Parts: sequence; C-alpha cells; structure tokens
Amino acid sequence: MKIITVTNQKGGVAKTTTVSSLFAGLHKMGKRTLAIDLDPQCNLSYCFKTDEKKPSVKNVFKGECSIKDAIQSCDGGDILQSDKALNNVMQELSAIDQVYKLSKVLKEVKDNYDYVIIDTPPALSPLTINALVASTSVIIPVQADSFSMQGAEALAETIKGIKDVNEALEISGILIVRYKARAGLAQHMNDKFNDFAKMFDTKVFNTKIRDAIAVQESQLARQNIFDYDSNANVSIDYANFIQEFING
Ligand SMILES: Nc1ncnc2c1ncn2[C@@H]1O[C@H](COP(=O)(O)OP(=O)(O)OP(=O)(O)O)[C@@H](O)[C@H]1O
Ligand SMILES: [Mg+2]
Repeated sequence: MKIITVTNQKGGVAKTTTVSSLFAGLHKMGKRTLAIDLDPQCNLSYCFKTDEKKPSVKNVFKGECSIKDAIQSCDGGDILQSDKALNNVMQELSAIDQVYKLSKVLKEVKDNYDYVIIDTPPALSPLTINALVASTSVIIPVQADSFSMQGAEALAETIKGIKDVNEALEISGILIVRYKARAGLAQHMNDKFNDFAKMFDTKVFNTKIRDAIAVQESQLARQNIFDYDSNANVSIDYANFIQEFING
C-alpha cells in the first residue's frame, strides 16, 4: 500500500485539487484508493460530497469508531472525511498519538488499498506530521510565484526530521501547479524550482499542471476534474502526472 501525502504549509497551492485528481485518476485506472481529508477546512470532503452525519477522522482519532466504520465510498473510491474540530482533537491525544495516530489506524486497512492519498492543512501542524509519519511518499505542489516557495526551509527541515523516524518516506517530487507559460519568466522560474527541489533532495516533475478555469468550475459542480471534463488541458496534465508518478 502506497501512502501519499500532498503537502505545503503555504495555503492555496492546489494541495486539495491535486489530491482530488490523483485519487479520482488512480481509481479510474482500477486501483483501490482511499483518500483521507486531514484538513479541518474539509474541502476534499466537500468536493466528494461526503455525508457529514457519518463518522469522520475525528471520531477515529478519538477512538469512538474504527477506521473501517468511518470510511465512505464516493466518486474517487473510498474516503475518510474530516471535521472542523480536528485540531482540538489532536491536543487531546497522548504525546505519542499526536505523532503516530494515523500511522497506527492505517495498519487496520493495509491490505485493502493500493493507494492512500492524504490531504493536509496549510500548516506544519500535528496533523501534517501525522500524515508524513504514516506516508511512503510526499508530493509538494508549488505555484510559479515566489511566495509559494517561502517557508520551504521549514518544510524541508520537518521532512528531514521525519525521515529519521520513518525511513520509508520518499520525497517523490515538486509538482508545478497553476502553470502559465510566459516567455522570459519561464527560465527564471525554472531555476527557482530547481533550487527549491535541491533543498528537498528531490526532482521537479516533468509534468506541469496548467492554470485552467475548468478546475474552479469542477469544484463548484463538486465533481472531480476527470468526470467534469476529461478533455480539459488540466485533466490531461493530471493524467500525465499520474503516469509519471506511477512510473517513478
Ligand atoms: N490548475 C488550476 N487552475 C486554476 N485554478 C486552480 C488550479 N488548481 C487549483 N486552483 C484553484 O486554486 C485555489 C486553491 O486550490 P486548492 O484549494 O486545491 O489549494 P490548497 O493548497 O488545498 O488550499 P488550502 O491551503 O486552503 O488547503 C482553488 O480556488 C482552486 O480552484
Ligand atoms: Mg486544501
């Protein structure tokens, strides 16, 4: 079972959009997929129209139900929804569980999925730490602006620290999102992305995700990008990215 965390403590850099597309895309390829929404904003849960009345990751973390009881099915496969009060729950956990809780509960479903894809909040919080400690791969989305690469040192330090306790963790790469090709800017940005990747001892994925209105439209329609418009440029980009990711 591959466990993939999509993270960047910067807000609004297409983490949720990338999780949604990876999740739905891998499911369409016949893979057994589970998405985990670890962001109290609940954006991923909203996109996949989860039933809020059903248990969430909060109930699982509190020990009120098992992960299997909280999982629901949706358009992208199975999903474990988030809860707005998830941050408070983290503070109630034991010191060990504040780091290892997700890793522990995922053991209960280790034979049920090919891919688990985790969405994280825009913070280096205990939720993000839990995700990274449980994961085998990290994908870091960045936008072609200088702000989305600020704070990279903190993220790189955190990931390096987690590798000391989770040797299986691999930084799969930096994914350029919301890409707009502009002559002149492109070379300058490419240098920046490569410096950024070096900081993480990883590569920049060849596939770039283009900026497209179809993303916002699909999210308004609460559909994943492939169901919304499989011919949109951005769907083609995400499909290519999934292929590149799978091929390693
Ligand atoms: N390729 C794209 N083209 C156009 N808009 C995009 C693209 N990817 C994401 N967006 C838009 O950018 C905004 C932020 O995306 P998203 O919510 O996925 O980011 P995030 O990193 O999960 O944000 P947060 O840090 O708040 O969780 C959304 O409005 C989304 O529709
Ligand atoms: Mg998000």
